[in-house]
Amino acid sequence: MDKLNGKKVLIAGATGGIGTQTARLLAGSGADVYLTGRKADALLRLADSLSVPHGRCFVADLTEAPAVSRMAEDITRQSGPLDILVNASGIGIIKPLEQLSLEEFQQTLQGNLTAAFLLVKAFLPGMKEGKKGLIINIPGVLGKVPMAGAAAYSASKYGLVGMMQCIREEVKRTEIRITNLYLGGVDSPFWDTIDLRVQKERMIRAEEAARAIWFLCQQPLSGVVSEMVLQPFNHQAI
Ligand SMILES: NC(=O)c1ccc[n+]([C@@H]2O[C@H](COP(=O)([O-])OP(=O)(O)OC[C@H]3O[C@@H](n4cnc5c(N)ncnc54)[C@H](OP(=O)(O)O)[C@@H]3O)[C@@H](O)[C@H]2O)c1
Repeated sequence: MDKLNGKKVLIAGATGGIGTQTARLLAGSGADVYLTGRKADALLRLADSLSVPHGRCFVADLTEAPAVSRMAEDITRQSGPLDILVNASGIGIIKPLEQLSLEEFQQTLQGNLTAAFLLVKAFLPGMKEGKKGLIINIPGVLGKVPMAGAAAYSASKYGLVGMMQCIREEVKRTEIRITNLYLGGVDSPFWDTIDLRVQKERMIRAEEAARAIWFLCQQPLSGVVSEMVLQPFNHQAI
């Protein structure tokens, strides 16, 4: 736990199922957490419950470049480069191709890929200056294996994996770690707008997904966890 004491960690998607639990766990382990999400009320409620000052909360749509830049400038001015960026933001539009509109396809790419691009673009330079840092993204298993109905979602998540693997090559002479977390189904509000019959009681609990992130935040000095796969027992696909 000491390893997280005083670490500056931004949790994107802090208002979501996985992000909220991650914020709780990391703040409880002594990290200085910065929180971002779109829903102001939920964000500030979470901050209050964790005694995080409102100055460390950013209501932002991460698909909007100026909002992400402003947040990065503000955080950097407050406390210098981030130690850890946890990107737990994203959207799920899962439907077969014939029902999938161009708008939904583009929205998925924006939410899951462009937002991740903007976050990395904004926070990586500070990490590069310090030659250290950790970026955790959550492509999920649909960033590794295909599933019927997931054309848009998987396009965004495979894209995220490809993008982060290329960025890893660009920072490989530094101690910047790039970690992809492949989660199977997690019981969170993510599924609330998805028209699929799912068994939430058999999914990973959001607290357990957060524990995986907490573990990933404490990587050994001499090594890097490039990827982790965590799936419900009944969905062991890879
Ligand atoms: N749940 C699963 O089964 C599962 C499995 C594998 C991977 N994942 C991935 O894990 C991540 C977190 O998922 P979750 O289950 O915690 O989902 P969730 O409960 O739906 O939370 C999603 C979070 O992303 C934020 N968000 C979405 N679009 C945004 C945007 N344009 N700008 C800023 N914030 C945005 C939401 O903010 P607001 O609520 O404030 O709008 C919310 O905080 C996602 O990347 C998801 O793809 C989830």
